[in-house]
Amino acid sequence: MTAGRGEHETVLVLDFGGQYTQLIARRIRELQVYCEIHPFDLEVEEIRARRPIGIVLSGGPDSVYERNAPQADPEVLRLGIPVLGICYGMQWMAQVLGGRVAASGLREYGRTRITLLARDGALFNGLAPEQNVWMSHGDRVEQLPPGFKATASTATAPVVAAEDGERSLFGIQFHPEVTHTDSGSTMLRNFLHDACGAAGEWRMASYADEATAAIKARAGRFDRVLCALSGGVDSAVAASLVQRAVGERLTAVFVDNGLLRKNERDEVERSLRQGLDLKLVVVDAATEFLGALAGVSDPEEKRRTIGRVFIEVFQREAARLERAGEGDGAFRFLVQGTLYPDVIESVSAFGPSAMIKSHHNVGGLPERLGFELIEPLRYLFKDEVRQLGRELGLGSEFVGRHPFPGPGLGVRILGDVTADRVAVLQEADAIFIEELRAAGFYDRVSQALAVLLPVHSVGVMGDGRSYENVVALRAVETEDFMTADWSQLPHEFLGGVAGRIVNEVTGVNRVVYDLTSKPPGTIEWE
Ligand code: XMP
Repeated sequence: MTAGRGEHETVLVLDFGGQYTQLIARRIRELQVYCEIHPFDLEVEEIRARRPIGIVLSGGPDSVYERNAPQADPEVLRLGIPVLGICYGMQWMAQVLGGRVAASGLREYGRTRITLLARDGALFNGLAPEQNVWMSHGDRVEQLPPGFKATASTATAPVVAAEDGERSLFGIQFHPEVTHTDSGSTMLRNFLHDACGAAGEWRMASYADEATAAIKARAGRFDRVLCALSGGVDSAVAASLVQRAVGERLTAVFVDNGLLRKNERDEVERSLRQGLDLKLVVVDAATEFLGALAGVSDPEEKRRTIGRVFIEVFQREAARLERAGEGDGAFRFLVQGTLYPDVIESVSAFGPSAMIKSHHNVGGLPERLGFELIEPLRYLFKDEVRQLGRELGLGSEFVGRHPFPGPGLGVRILGDVTADRVAVLQEADAIFIEELRAAGFYDRVSQALAVLLPVHSVGVMGDGRSYENVVALRAVETEDFMTADWSQLPHEFLGGVAGRIVNEVTGVNRVVYDLTSKPPGTIEWE
């Protein structure tokens, strides 16, 4: 499925393992130029084949002068395509072209004031001479390669930006992609427009049209397509796009695993039927899931169990639907709402990423079931999926919804998962979300949830002693869910929520609020 690439002005980011590489791609896309991330050692032939209008070399944790430092093919700098090197990217470019890079002896992290020495080149065109930028480096360019001139400096470093206008090669020591660099977006836009000659024509509406056309071409005129819906934004947007392409030949399956939030099944079913007008099948598998989870309290074991039962249920349903619609033939394709961050083969600054928890999506299904995959969101970031959803006319019940994990309340009930405990958590969670909406905080936080802890605490209710469950509330703010701050909700508000939970939810006598950021915590508790 190739929608979103090929036809567009494309910029390639070669990733040296930078902390902010994904942000670079997002900023470029915000400027309406399609952008892809690839490992630093992408073959030059591969680069040529993608016909990029510009190349960005990312930052990275290494020192270019050390052995084994990551090296791109120097040919990248001789393709006649404008190149912007950021931090390590600048240092690599400087070294390869005959300059010298060394440890600065003075590490610079955080906000720094720089002076622009030349504002007639592409990058700093129209900017004020003094700029606040975000630095994060310990090395610096000591001597520029032939043909380059310094275009910015700080009080302590003579070269924090340089360019060779003739060859359209630009380097900056700081990070234009983070919001702390005041004119970062302007610098990137200047690079795209003035150096690369971009027109900035990448639009969600055209993405939707192209993706639809690509799915149509692939699924032909007869093939049947199956999709698993979770009620979340990704699967809803993916299904909506596929439906535009194949109409009636799409069948959507929503599995109620008994681990959904209060009233969620009805709400999801209603909004899916109303909003998407899909051929929708709802499978009630609560008993099966809860049965399989009996006695399972280890978080990873829970995830594996839920994943396994999901596949069994889905497989059974697919077979049943095929039998029921015999004349229509077998399902050939499966739709998945895989997002770009899941498919980027980036270089991790910390080596191969450590497995923190095994996320259960519909992943794993294709190999087991022999479907061909349609992944129409494969090149999009989460916020772009939301934008696409709006473009496709999906309501805020999809587009504005907080994410909800595949294993559902199963990973928010610490310890044993039973129907009774699910019911307790559903009530507490519903109160929290209802209050967030009523106070206007729902859209301000990125995700909010309640967790049922595996401990009891002593309380006093009326004149009697109680010995009941403890509920933890968690609300976080984040752009990408990779890192997150705990949300500083007003104490008064939290007090109100806690009061309601303790008074209204039988079996809970204490509520706590989680003050842990990610890292070191994760967003979910399991
Ligand atoms: P963590 O807990 O890893 O969560 O900080 C990051 C984001 O991912 C969601 N999450 C999941 N989503 N299947 C999913 O589809 C999962 O198994 C899963 N586990 C966590 C979590 O809700 C948060 O938005």
